[in-house]
Amino acid sequence: MIKNDDLELQMQRLDLTATPPTEEPQRQYFYMAKAKKMVGELTARLGRKPTFCVTTFGCQMNARDSEKLSGILEQIGYVDNGTDEKSDFVIYNTCTVRDNANQRVYGRLGALSNYKKKNPDMRIALCGCMMQEQSVIDKLKKSYRFVDLIFGTHNIFKFAELVCDMLENDDMIVDIWEGTDQIVEDLPIVRKYPFKSGINIMFGCNNFCSYCIVPYVRGRERSRTPEDIIREIEMLVEDGVIEIMLLGQNVNSYGKTLENSISFAELLQRIEKIEGLERIRFMTSHPKDLSDELIQVMRDSKKICRHLHLPLQSGSTRILERMNRRYTKEQYVELALKIRREIPDISLTTDIIVGFPGETDEDVDDTIDVIRTVGYDNAFTFIYSKRTGTPAAAMENQVPEDVVKRNFNRVLATVQEVSKNRTIVFTGQDVEVLVEEVNEHDESLVTGRMSNNTMVHFKGNEELIGTIQTVHLDECHGFYYTGHIAEK
Ligand code: SAH
Ligand code: SF4
Ligand code: F3S
Repeated sequence: MIKNDDLELQMQRLDLTATPPTEEPQRQYFYMAKAKKMVGELTARLGRKPTFCVTTFGCQMNARDSEKLSGILEQIGYVDNGTDEKSDFVIYNTCTVRDNANQRVYGRLGALSNYKKKNPDMRIALCGCMMQEQSVIDKLKKSYRFVDLIFGTHNIFKFAELVCDMLENDDMIVDIWEGTDQIVEDLPIVRKYPFKSGINIMFGCNNFCSYCIVPYVRGRERSRTPEDIIREIEMLVEDGVIEIMLLGQNVNSYGKTLENSISFAELLQRIEKIEGLERIRFMTSHPKDLSDELIQVMRDSKKICRHLHLPLQSGSTRILERMNRRYTKEQYVELALKIRREIPDISLTTDIIVGFPGETDEDVDDTIDVIRTVGYDNAFTFIYSKRTGTPAAAMENQVPEDVVKRNFNRVLATVQEVSKNRTIVFTGQDVEVLVEEVNEHDESLVTGRMSNNTMVHFKGNEELIGTIQTVHLDECHGFYYTGHIAEK
């Protein structure tokens, strides 16, 4: 991340007739300056500033990447207009974790082709995880020739350079890297919320859960240095951020590959010291790597939120082994109960997959048993989606659709029943709520989140956005509360 004014100064000093630098991020500053000139010419021709729209599919990691894309686009002179069909530059930042994410992209692209016929200046770019799959690229090259630019997850830092190429060429540009060790710092970022922000602490994943495509499309695990992370958070805080979400596919293995190795718990302790920062969240924790040290640091911390997302995937040891998760049902339950014991007010949430190859009704009974024993505050339940190239895709005994549906409904019903009983326990208490927005349905209300991530609606106005208020919780409505600002 870099401050806009500093970047602007650097860009103005550049000689655009010289050969582009080879070092990063200087090379991208050069291309941003060049792109800005081209966008200036486009602005003159159109008689207005060209517009863009970035649509994000998938996880927080992708959301953060989209903020980086927007940061560069605004720097070079595009304005965000929020709707894809009316924009001059449409970007889909894609996800491929389950097949329905892919299908949504193809659906949107189909509709977009008609808008492009009406607006010949429209440019379309695709990036993100889906683009790291050869079969997707083949399909796009064959049937979606109207797409202008395709790039992947490893070269996203090159976006300015790619935009220059795109503006100079009419042909489809495809630039996909198989992997990278590179982490490029100091590029511009535009945040969706002024008061909270995600921040990458690591990229990629080495776990190779047998159903999961992420390690193939995001590459090997790489951690950013604690110095870079802290510097970025300090800049964010200076800019008004009070809550951060540390992002990684498996934050518990943070720092292991760094030259000066450091644990995730140690990183948290260093971040805790940053003055002005009020709340720290993180995503995601792999149960196999969650240390006692981390539990203690969470317990003793004033800033780390009372929420832990601890993906279970399955409660059956037999299935967990086939999933390559490297813990048993008993180990998981023991860990979850230890966390509940040490930090009683913590909210535990999870991810569950139903219909993994070979899963029987008895395996699902085990999953349901864990849901009841742990008592999740919330759980995301997914139907297993076969991802080409993963070991699970080649497994025998793919479960028939009707069996999956039936078991999915059983799991879902249990989750709903259990989580309702958990959420309600805070009724009548005064809790701290970070106000995020004016309520969508009722303008006299604002909506915010408790430390444990539960949503609360209460009377207030937009001036409260970005502040932490003490709110009395009047009533629990399933997964959210209504309340009022507590009297001092
Ligand atoms: N790194 C995170 C998960 C990232 S993907 C972790 O290990 O927890 C988010 C969730 O998508 C996973 O937890 C899993 O429940 C689900 N998921 C991943 N691959 C899937 C597949 N092939 N089918 C269905 N759900 C899947
Ligand atoms: Fe996928 Fe497993 Fe890595 Fe999570 S830990 S991203 S589920 S391979
Ligand atoms: Fe999807 Fe990629 Fe995230 S596959 S879940 S966007 S890492």
